[in-house]
Amino acid sequence: MPIILGLESSCDETAAALVASDRTILAHRLAGQEAAHGPYGGVVPEIAARAHVEALIPLVKAALADAKLSLADVDAIAATAGPGLIGGVMVGLVTGKALAHAAGKPLIAVNHLEGHALSPRLADPSLEFPYLLLLVSGGHCQLLEVRGVGDYRRLATTIDDAAGEAFDKTAKLLGLGIPGGPKVEALAAQGDPRTVPLPRPLVGSGEPHFSFAGLKSAVMRAVESGQWVDADIAASFQQAVIDCLVDRTKRALNAMTDRPTALVVAGGVAANAGVRGALEGLAAQHELRFVAPPLWLCTDNAAMIGWAGAERFALGLVDDLAVAARPRWPLDPSAETVRGAGVKA
Ligand code: KG4
Ligand code: ZN
Repeated sequence: MPIILGLESSCDETAAALVASDRTILAHRLAGQEAAHGPYGGVVPEIAARAHVEALIPLVKAALADAKLSLADVDAIAATAGPGLIGGVMVGLVTGKALAHAAGKPLIAVNHLEGHALSPRLADPSLEFPYLLLLVSGGHCQLLEVRGVGDYRRLATTIDDAAGEAFDKTAKLLGLGIPGGPKVEALAAQGDPRTVPLPRPLVGSGEPHFSFAGLKSAVMRAVESGQWVDADIAASFQQAVIDCLVDRTKRALNAMTDRPTALVVAGGVAANAGVRGALEGLAAQHELRFVAPPLWLCTDNAAMIGWAGAERFALGLVDDLAVAARPRWPLDPSAETVRGAGVKA
């Protein structure tokens, strides 16, 4: 049974994992960089790239030791080749190339977004194509029809900020630090979501896309007004994001011609309990299955990269060692570029 070594380094998590094609996660290791970026209030690309250089090989060694395997036991090496912060992506991809060359194994250049998009199939063997995926991370907010491995139709994207970015900026405005999403969620649990009047950009609109920039500005004005307690701002903000995500997903469901097998959510923001609960309710209204990976598989990790590698390996999709790192790499190349969308991973 094929075993894939997965490497992830596109943002601020360095990770290595060993995943078998029967979905057994033989090992997964991860090193975050919060301490290094904390003083700057956000991810600093140069610091991230240097931290990946230091962390990646020790994590690969640790994962192999956890699984009691050597590189010779691995069938292929899957590394994130984009999109993301290019310094970090290059560290992971070049490490993957070097390991593949030294061990004489095939390299699989994985699109980080495909890692998120296929992660629900690692968690749930019964999840079949096609499914409607809400991919919500720090750099992306997209609705995708996932038709097969490497076969995606983008139905919507953000015209400005991603949902995770809005969480991170709200955390910064409230002085919560990083990682922003979980800190806003924890504070929101102590607040009342009905207190602070905040906009829901594009809700009810006939156009398919998302927008969060106006919400972010409104949060800034609410903080500056000194009129509200922080927990109420956090709770009201989170509810506004949830309302936007649900409304836009509902629109996509109504516009789809082929009925999906499930409504699926993935990416860092999918770790949010309020987001998961609201989407589960929407799926129930449409009599659809709802699938969300476990929390640790929602945020960046290497198991999802190893799994995307396993799916590609099974189809014979391996890459040449000359493959390039790509700071931008849309899952649906035919989708038109939308202003401001998809800048980060
Ligand atoms: O997928 P991910 O780990 O990295 C990217 O590929 O961007 O997503 C990170 C994003 C960050 O913006 C973070 O604030 C957000 O996911 N996030 C959350 C939660 N956990 C992570 N947002 C809301 N609630 C959470 N519990
Ligand atoms: Zn990600």
